Amino acid sequence: MSFRTLHDRGVIARYSDYLPVTEATPVVSLNEGSTPLIHSPKLSAKVGRGCEVYIKYEGLNPTGSFKDRGMTVALSKALEDGARAVICASTGNTSAAAAAYAARANMTCIVLLPAGKISFGKLVQAFMYGAKVVAIDGNFDDALRLVREIGETEPIAVVNSINPHRLQGQKTASFEIIEELGDAPDVHILPVGNAGNISAYWLGYQEFYALKKSTRMPVMLGFQAAGSAPIFHQKVIERPETVATAIRIGNPASWDKANDAIAQSGGAVDIVTDEEILAAQFWLASNEGIFVEPASASSIAGLLKSLDPKSARAYDAAQFPEGSKIVCVVTGHGLKDPDVGKEQCEKVISARAERSEILRLIG
Ligand code: F0G
Repeated sequence: MSFRTLHDRGVIARYSDYLPVTEATPVVSLNEGSTPLIHSPKLSAKVGRGCEVYIKYEGLNPTGSFKDRGMTVALSKALEDGARAVICASTGNTSAAAAAYAARANMTCIVLLPAGKISFGKLVQAFMYGAKVVAIDGNFDDALRLVREIGETEPIAVVNSINPHRLQGQKTASFEIIEELGDAPDVHILPVGNAGNISAYWLGYQEFYALKKSTRMPVMLGFQAAGSAPIFHQKVIERPETVATAIRIGNPASWDKANDAIAQSGGAVDIVTDEEILAAQFWLASNEGIFVEPASASSIAGLLKSLDPKSARAYDAAQFPEGSKIVCVVTGHGLKDPDVGKEQCEKVISARAERSEILRLIG
């Protein structure tokens, strides 16, 4: 049976014509992709001038983040090439996806994580999917350096986004957006960490534009956490810090590609503080019913910053043409990192188990 019939809903089946696969490729899929593009009436109203804001909810992928799009291609190609084991460095989402797809492919998965800096939800995923988890006394950048070195000498496939198959898979999110909107958006906003995703989206937008499946290419706006912003500062950050642990990265692998995407699209990279990230996370959940992890909320925080004339913004949203379509990508599910929401739980109202008491307390 071909992959079309076995996995008729994953990104390889949906976009095989645009991916480095053949009928001989053994497809490892969890029916990832085809995530919802949700209209946000409240963000649209904030932007005004007839602009419409859409949220691409990538947290609804099978392991809870956008990484599944790239991992289906990376693991399928690794299997096709005869690899028996894969390795990655991760801030938690890449490792969850690698472990899940490796489990499905009967491959060994080794993950290198910065000790103590992975949210519990993501750590549990790696173990549950059966990965060998190594916590190093260094940060993500150290882990990625080690993975590159090990990949050079050992018969283990590296499935970080330095593996070009990852970006190929991830570019399919641009295709979905174009197909759903009928054209590319005017503005595309997303968080930036290791910079693979911004590079992949740009690849996808360029490809569909060249094929005349869209008539424009969006302005790309990337947001980094203020304490982990190497691309914004154009210098390596030795000790990156942020509550958004997914993007706690000081030396991104796809730095040059991200610079190109920003320059070619006429966009910008800007920073958002941890406070702005957490405020945007809570705002999005409590106003639009979309719960995302902190790193993902940086795209929303970024849009709000671009709208604020009092902020030192790198890009002024007043430059968005009237009636613009704006897509904010939210990359990972909020349940990945529930600890950051603990403060909200302090609002709990305690009561005796009595109807009258409850009615009095809830007003
Ligand atoms: N959002 C989330 C939820 C992420 O997990 C990541 C990256 C990003 C955004 C940034 O994407 O790296 O392509 O610029 N997480 C990687 C990981 C580093 O190991 O899971 P990027």
